[in-house]
Amino acid sequence: MRVLVTGAAGFIGSNVVKYLESKSIDTVSFDNFSHSNYYNILNTKGEVVCGDVTDKNFYKNIPEVDAVIHQAAITDTTLADDAKMVEVNYNGFLNVFNFCVKKNIPLVYASSAGVYGKTDKKMSEEEKVIPHNTYAYSKYLCDCWSKKYVKANKTPPIIGLRYFNVYGPQESHKKKASSMIYQLYNQMVQGQRPRIFKFGEQKRDFIYVKDIARVTAEAVNLEKSVISNVGTGQPRSFNDIIAILNKLLGKKLEPDYIDNPYQKVYQDYTEADITTLTQVLGAKTEYSLEEGIRDYLKNYLFCNQQ
Ligand SMILES: NC(=O)c1ccc[n+]([C@@H]2O[C@H](COP(=O)([O-])OP(=O)(O)OC[C@H]3O[C@@H](n4cnc5c(N)ncnc54)[C@H](O)[C@@H]3O)[C@@H](O)[C@H]2O)c1
Repeated sequence: MRVLVTGAAGFIGSNVVKYLESKSIDTVSFDNFSHSNYYNILNTKGEVVCGDVTDKNFYKNIPEVDAVIHQAAITDTTLADDAKMVEVNYNGFLNVFNFCVKKNIPLVYASSAGVYGKTDKKMSEEEKVIPHNTYAYSKYLCDCWSKKYVKANKTPPIIGLRYFNVYGPQESHKKKASSMIYQLYNQMVQGQRPRIFKFGEQKRDFIYVKDIARVTAEAVNLEKSVISNVGTGQPRSFNDIIAILNKLLGKKLEPDYIDNPYQKVYQDYTEADITTLTQVLGAKTEYSLEEGIRDYLKNYLFCNQQ
């Protein structure tokens, strides 16, 4: 089996490539390298193709593949260029979608918990959603298209995965769009007080990238189309992250609480309803927040922990 991974030089894409190769599955890594780190796929055994998903003929330079995992997107949610965001994230998705339908091969694509917008409730796939920014809207468009097309046509399996808040190795190129865990770690390891929005009790469903990579790679074997959340179902606070990092780093740094300039569009709460994940995908997450952060620090950030 050979799987095409778009956005393969990015954070999640490169972890997916790594997971597939650990299972002896051939990969083709596709990326335009606009917002990535080539180092993330330096050791891939598969072919690397530089190209752009917004090109309708993007597939011309790739070898035959049996499935596609689509990760390529603009992922900086604060980007002010709405046209670019929708062009890459939606039109690019449509090109990949059409390729899979034409070839009759499964597509697993990255959607986002962002589509749910601001709420204080558990988020489930069937509920009405109100995306809170253009990034979230671009992912919402992908889900709407996918649902509509799958309902009206005979298609190969199309699996949309609404990732919650992902953290873990190979995210450093994302800078201010990297996870809270990575950003807080960087401050705290240098002895700085961790800066978080007042008063750190915002809760998010943080999920370790190793869980995301496994669930995503295994979803290519599903036989039916579905849109599913991928989260732990266990929201945790920013204060919790600081407590875990303090413990692992052997520090006692107090949070420095700051005003949130994005308050109107900021998701203060994310919690995945994991019914579809467990019952349809037959998947579950393996890392708690404590275990994920410990693995990240010990094996990737090479930090001497307590
Ligand atoms: N990281 C998270 O917490 C999270 C949460 C929800 C959803 N997602 C989704 O998961 C996917 C992967 O996110 P990530 O965190 O790895 O981000 P990332 O920015 O690290 O990866 C995106 C990759 O896509 C590439 N890319 C961008 N535009 C392209 C184009 N036009 N053609 C080809 N390649 C292009 C970039 O160079 C980059 O390598 C994205 O679709 C993102 O929206 C991520």
